[in-house]
Amino acid sequence: MINTHVASASIDIQRCRLYNAERIMIIFAIETSCDETAVAIMRNGRETLSSELFSQADMHALYGGVVPEIASRNHAAVIGRLSELALKNAGISKRDIDAVAVTCAPGLIGALLVGVNFAKGLALSLDVPLIPVHHIRGHIAANYIAYPELEPPFLCTIVSGGNTLIADVREYTDIAILGRSRDDAAGECFDKVARVLGLGYPGGPALDKLAQDGDDTLFDLPHPVIDGFPYDMSFSGLKTAIINIVHNAEQKSETLEIPSLAASFARTTSEILVPRVMAAARELRYDKIALAGGVAANSRIRADFLKAAEEEKSTLFIPPLNLCGDNAAMIGCQGYYEYLAGARGNMDLDAFATMDADKSFDMAFAAVTGELDGKYN
Ligand code: KG4
Repeated sequence: MINTHVASASIDIQRCRLYNAERIMIIFAIETSCDETAVAIMRNGRETLSSELFSQADMHALYGGVVPEIASRNHAAVIGRLSELALKNAGISKRDIDAVAVTCAPGLIGALLVGVNFAKGLALSLDVPLIPVHHIRGHIAANYIAYPELEPPFLCTIVSGGNTLIADVREYTDIAILGRSRDDAAGECFDKVARVLGLGYPGGPALDKLAQDGDDTLFDLPHPVIDGFPYDMSFSGLKTAIINIVHNAEQKSETLEIPSLAASFARTTSEILVPRVMAAARELRYDKIALAGGVAANSRIRADFLKAAEEEKSTLFIPPLNLCGDNAAMIGCQGYYEYLAGARGNMDLDAFATMDADKSFDMAFAAVTGELDGKYN
């Protein structure tokens, strides 16, 4: 019968106690969920020994967005060399690795599979535990690296290219989703608007830069409300409204005030996000609020959160720009806490294109291994 990851957990928990006593654990972490190949080496969760990143953004910019097959091929081509570099820059050898953490969901399935299979091979060859990590939980953990004093519970909003969520981080591995975008993620909206404006991919940074010179009151854009779900959001109407403004101007050969459109768009996104997050924090009586994900790099959104947090006398945690976007340090950090909580992968480990951040991997693995057991045991 095929072993499930649960079967090996008791042995690994013993290792974990040993590591706790010695207070040293080196995690080799891999992130390949989208178009960034990333490898990091973390010590005891929060200390980054090395963090290497190969961004494929330029290659995908040619197509106006991420091409999944190109992303997977590039991951396969560079992950080996990037791993060697991470070891070299950390000043350690493979024998020093105590566990391998890898993003297995959510993301582009082919891209995730490159990282998952590389991680399996490494863990198998070194005979060390394999730790499955949820990408969104990794984004939250970027805050632990930036702020050594930060501990759950706190409220976190994750605003990335694929997700827009408000999460109650009750414990390192106990997360409840309070609100989410019902349609497009905020980052997806930035990228699509930028594409229509011919600003290239990824669109967020270019729109952010343009917005600095714009009048944010020039365009009145929609703020959708979802009845009965005060923390849920919608961004597709906002995206369509902007695309219509651009197309109308083109049809009428009118010149658009692009910086003001970018500034109005950033203001509207912020007005959708910030009040919901602050209301959720008030309801849960949290005075610690963290931001995560690529869109947390947006200057307007950062400034509005800072202002709102100051008014509410809350402490705001915003990771530095290099930790906002995809990286492997955040995966190694969250991997450490998942490890301590007993999460283990084995050679059945699979990747999942979608999975909620509040679900444990156990359920998904059970479904996959259950099917395999029926066929091959
Ligand atoms: O977290 P991330 O690197 O990847 C995902 O996990 O999705 O986020 C990427 C997203 C892209 O949509 C990109 O356009 C957006 O973050 N982004 C920004 C900014 N920098 C990156 N959006 C708005 N303003 C920015 N300064």
